[in-house]
Amino acid sequence: MNNILDVKNLTKVYGKGSEQKFVALENLNLSVAKGEFVAIMGASGSGKSTLLNNISTLDVPSSGEILIDGETLIGLKGKALADFRARKIGFIFQEFNLLDSLTVYENIALPLSLQRVRSKEIRLAVKRVAKLLNIEDLLQKYPEQLSGGQKQRTASARALVHEPALILGDEPTGALDSKNAVDLLETMQTMNQQQGVSILMVTHDAMSASYADRILFIKDGQVHQELIKAQNETNQAFYQEVLRTVAQEN
Ligand SMILES: Nc1ncnc2c1ncn2[C@@H]1O[C@H](COP(=O)(O)OP(=O)(O)OP(=O)(O)O)[C@@H](O)[C@H]1O
Ligand SMILES: [Mg+2]
Repeated sequence: MNNILDVKNLTKVYGKGSEQKFVALENLNLSVAKGEFVAIMGASGSGKSTLLNNISTLDVPSSGEILIDGETLIGLKGKALADFRARKIGFIFQEFNLLDSLTVYENIALPLSLQRVRSKEIRLAVKRVAKLLNIEDLLQKYPEQLSGGQKQRTASARALVHEPALILGDEPTGALDSKNAVDLLETMQTMNQQQGVSILMVTHDAMSASYADRILFIKDGQVHQELIKAQNETNQAFYQEVLRTVAQEN
């Protein structure tokens, strides 16, 4: 099994019963290989968040199949689904979603605490990711005492602490200024290259997308174009390519 993610003929129709129907995704197919960093681009309303929410199991497909590490999500419910999600996936949102009443340490530890990992192991794991994300000095602070960039690094540490096989990000740099965005993207690229974590990141920003190995463009609920970064191609060169493609798309 060489893919961490396979999405097969995924269709998502919003609107139940007599409500107005809206087809957000229609027979969408994509795969992410193990160790790959893939970005998803597309106009507002093209279905990017819908796609990520279905992959992350926050939402349920109307039809089609999603395999994570070769395992189907269909039929997984309740605790089995929660366990599967907790083990395999890390999620970085645009709005950080940190819990204000918990310290940075406790926020990062949360996925492990929920899995009842022993506190000694939790301490080691939190230290490891805090070092990776350069937030070791912030562990006793509360979210309200942090800058936006520090909050996002805390949220990234939480997404990574249980060593998920796949990280999903929905506009993870969306609420950051350009310096903090670059810091986060470089960290994600490092995690991808050094720890082998696979990443699927939604972004409308060409600069952010240029950190990925491959970019999928979504339109009308389907993948309609793909850009692949050449071996040894710099992010800068890839960025120019992305800009040209985005210009054609619009
Ligand atoms: N719960 C819902 N009920 C009905 N329609 C919805 C719902 N959620 C999303 N949609 C519609 O589905 C389409 C895709 O929405 P989605 O949030 O996936 O877009 P997006 O690509 O993430 O956009 P953006 O770049 O603005 O975040 C939109 O037209 C949206 O209005
Ligand atoms: Mg969205």
